[in-house]
Amino acid sequence: MLEGKKIVLGITGSIAAYKSCLIIRQLVKRGAEVQVVITPAGKEFITPITLSALTSKPVISDFFSQRDGTWHSHVDLGLWADAMLVAPATASTIGKMAHGVADNMLITTYLSMKAPVFIAPAMDLDMYAHPSTQQNLRTLQAYGNHIIEPGTGFLASKLEGKGRMEEPENIVACLERFFAQQGSAEGRENSMKGKRVLITAGPTYEKIDPVRFIGNYSSGKMGFALANECASRGAQVELVCGPVSASMQASSPNVHRTDVESAQEMFEACKALFPSMDSAILCAAVADFTPETTATEKIKRTGEDMVIRLKPNPDIAASLGQMKKEGQTLVGFALETNDEESNAQAKLKKKNFDFIVLNSLKDEGAGFRTDTNKITIITAEGKTEFPLKSKPEVAKDIIDKLEEI
Ligand code: PMT
Repeated sequence: MLEGKKIVLGITGSIAAYKSCLIIRQLVKRGAEVQVVITPAGKEFITPITLSALTSKPVISDFFSQRDGTWHSHVDLGLWADAMLVAPATASTIGKMAHGVADNMLITTYLSMKAPVFIAPAMDLDMYAHPSTQQNLRTLQAYGNHIIEPGTGFLASKLEGKGRMEEPENIVACLERFFAQQGSAEGRENSMKGKRVLITAGPTYEKIDPVRFIGNYSSGKMGFALANECASRGAQVELVCGPVSASMQASSPNVHRTDVESAQEMFEACKALFPSMDSAILCAAVADFTPETTATEKIKRTGEDMVIRLKPNPDIAASLGQMKKEGQTLVGFALETNDEESNAQAKLKKKNFDFIVLNSLKDEGAGFRTDTNKITIITAEGKTEFPLKSKPEVAKDIIDKLEEI
């Protein structure tokens, strides 16, 4: 996966700088071309001679070559690279990267970089845990950089590492995984071109009075991940979503979003859209019941018990299951707390799904609000279990299955 890849390796002033030799060796062994850019402090820890012997290239540190005054173009480096890896990345460099303090060649190269950037922090635990460092790392993450968590070897979505730089082999493995995923994503780029997909996401709110509702914990993360995945494969997505936080945003203009509040509103939107769709994925957590009446004024405390009578909501999935025509695919979710598989099997049949995605609240990291999920895909023929993954990765597995049908 790293064969022929051009990597800019940024080295900063940390005791872990010696480990960058091991990173270079592993990258070169896998066929990558490595260009080192080192900060002045980095040179205090490791000599450019060692690094240039390992990379077979002169090391870049200054804006001008001391020898002949040649200008080192950070812009050219930014265009040349397939990835930039800053390892080790000190708190100081992380702060400068986050705030654009371009006072050395490494930072100017970073600011000119067109390729993905990976950052492997290296510092003591107190420095890593300090709110300034954490805030800077979050800023860098928000700018689309990948943080390689110290002590875990993962590209972090939540920062909870231990300060010490991740081991060289794990850093290289992160890069390999990234390029492997990018390779398969490129293969899938247009695999759903021309397809129209309806996706429901988030909770529904069932109004009791002007200030209260019956709702649930769905954040919309799973549904938005599905919408983004379909859009990234070229599909046109109709995303019907219940009330989700303002931070939930689809990442592609291929996603057209309809915001609704209640199950009845979601039902109306889905019924209107479904006939023109190739498939629908029903990920929303829809309230099965709604108050029989909604009070027009805020209900006041009387000191007595209060009873709210509920009536059933439409079952969106079952209705679409009945409307389904030849050539349309319908995918449902089952969120279970007990007898998971048999409940999911029953919903698969009853709602006329082509397959159902089971997630259980018994599994840690699965279900509502988490950034991860653990699913089993169940069809009439059998089931496939998947390990705990990030919701965007789970979405890939689900959409791979959809494309298989
Ligand atoms: O949004 P997140 O925080 O990321 O959480 C994701 C999730 C846990 C909400 C998601 O993964 C999930 O499991 N969604 C389905 C939740 C649910 O309502 O499951 P259910 O077993 O009650 O419903 C079965 C299926 O029927 C679902 O596809 C549901 O969308 C659909 N349904 C249910 C009731 C109803 N009135 N109409 C429906 O269409």
